[in-house]
Amino acid sequence: MKYLVTGGAGYVGSVVAQHLLEAGHEVTVLDNLSTGFRAGVPAGAAFVEGDIRDAAKWLDPSFDGVLHFAASSQVGESVVKPEKYWENNVGGSMALLAAMREARVRTLVFSSTAATYGEPEQTPIPETAPTRPTSPYGASKLAVDHMITSEAVAHGLAAVSLRYFNVAGAYGAYGERHDPESHLIPLVLQVAQGRRDAISVYGDDYPTPDGTCVRDYIHVADLAEAHLLALTAARPGEHLICNLGNGNGFSVREVIETVREVTGHPIPEVTAPRRGGDPAVLVASADTAREKLGWNPTRADLAGIVADAWEFAQSITREH
Ligand SMILES: NC(=O)c1ccc[n+]([C@@H]2O[C@H](COP(=O)([O-])OP(=O)(O)OC[C@H]3O[C@@H](n4cnc5c(N)ncnc54)[C@H](O)[C@@H]3O)[C@@H](O)[C@H]2O)c1
Repeated sequence: MKYLVTGGAGYVGSVVAQHLLEAGHEVTVLDNLSTGFRAGVPAGAAFVEGDIRDAAKWLDPSFDGVLHFAASSQVGESVVKPEKYWENNVGGSMALLAAMREARVRTLVFSSTAATYGEPEQTPIPETAPTRPTSPYGASKLAVDHMITSEAVAHGLAAVSLRYFNVAGAYGAYGERHDPESHLIPLVLQVAQGRRDAISVYGDDYPTPDGTCVRDYIHVADLAEAHLLALTAARPGEHLICNLGNGNGFSVREVIETVREVTGHPIPEVTAPRRGGDPAVLVASADTAREKLGWNPTRADLAGIVADAWEFAQSITREH
């Protein structure tokens, strides 16, 4: 099959593109390199440097589907520059859907996010939980989910939105290199590499066992497998929404301790005040993904996730 991967020069898109190639599919990556890297595009994929808002230039009926990762995804930035998030995430996705309609490409897998839920009322969080995003980033992703639902109903699109919780780890040559980095595991690894003096722990008085926030970390390779399953599970006229997480939370302090064990570095930490909008616990119920996609994550072990991310972090430092 032939797939367009938007955002395939970024972290998650590059890993999924590589999995598609390994499964024997033909892949074209469309990426404007705003946060991605040319080196992130897997060797076997065709590459188009361009914007999703111009997707109509490259989409044609020879494509069997689209995997849509391209987005702006910094929660903090979205609070101070919301217009960028409405323009890129909502405007960009609207243009992509129009191009798909025009080219009669009728299958879509979309990267949604746990940020669509906001502060949870129950944990683990099911897909039926209220969606009350606390940032423009989460709101923009939720708007795209609504857009996709109506596209499926009105025009027969076969669509799956995957709501990722915290993606982590690496897959061989493909891993996380956001700049600025905002995710905990790569930030702690930067301390291990001597690129940062200490890790800040935002709040240690949450109602959790050690007082620090608890998050659900999912290995990027497990996440990639869910995308391949979603392509076959998508049904015309239906929009399936699935959370992707391990259902197991780890606290900020547990992550730091695991990085100490994996890297052998002492990792100094500094306790800072809580950040606004950080829920105490964010853990997914992934029962829908297991049931509807037949998904079975196999890399839930935090030490293994950290070890893969550590290997990747060292490899890109050697490159530079
Ligand atoms: N990484 C996570 O933990 C996480 C969690 C939840 C959801 N997500 C979602 O997953 C997707 C991928 O995240 P990531 O961490 O790989 O981010 P990333 O920034 O590494 O990748 C995004 C890619 O999209 C490209 N891009 C952005 N706007 C574009 C545009 N208008 N046209 C073409 N290309 C464009 C960027 O250059 C980049 O290569 C995003 O949609 C994000 O919202 C990620």
